[in-house]
Amino acid sequence: MKRILVLASGRGSNFRALLEASRHGVLRAEIAALGVSKRDCGAVGAAEAANLPLLLEPSEADILAFAKAQKIHFVVLAGYMKILSKHFIDALRDDKGLSQIINIHPSLLPAFPGLDAYGQAFRAGVREAGVTIHLVEPEVDGGPILDQKSFRIDRMRTVEEVESRGLPVEHDLYSKTIDWFVNGEYQLQNRGSPEGKVYVARA
Ligand code: GAR
Repeated sequence: MKRILVLASGRGSNFRALLEASRHGVLRAEIAALGVSKRDCGAVGAAEAANLPLLLEPSEADILAFAKAQKIHFVVLAGYMKILSKHFIDALRDDKGLSQIINIHPSLLPAFPGLDAYGQAFRAGVREAGVTIHLVEPEVDGGPILDQKSFRIDRMRTVEEVESRGLPVEHDLYSKTIDWFVNGEYQLQNRGSPEGKVYVARA
């Protein structure tokens, strides 16, 4: 089983969903530890209840040392609100150079990168919002996309409504996508784009 270190900052609903998915075999990987950028992060209680090792406000060097010592294969960001350095990202690549850090972003990237993506979509008046799971590259919210899922928001009246529709989509798509990615069920494609970007297609 691949071993995953999850990093979180906020409410922790994605972390709890990943723990559940791992327990039920929807996510065929071991959640091995949690790192949090704030001690009062909502994910901490769930990690303690599961007896998981906890990294409190770790530096990037702390995380890399832990990952090496504990044989962590993948780092998963679950609402981790820190920008990662190129050095950190480059330290976590496989032998083909593919980033081993996975992120969830609450929009249909490349639309609405950055903070408050549900709010951005709501205020822009778009018909559909969505969720993107992608690999982390130094360009923020710009790494290879693993999967996306959209949902209608044109009848919604508040950002809270958009978010409460989006969160269950996040929890479901994140577990399923991490599952196939960490278990190597994909092919790499180079579509010869001018930027020479690599695409990751589910096998
Ligand atoms: C989620 O909506 C996640 O997609 C978002 O933060 C929230 C964390 O919620 N992530 C980003 O915006 C990353 N740029 P959670 O703490 O309940 O999982």
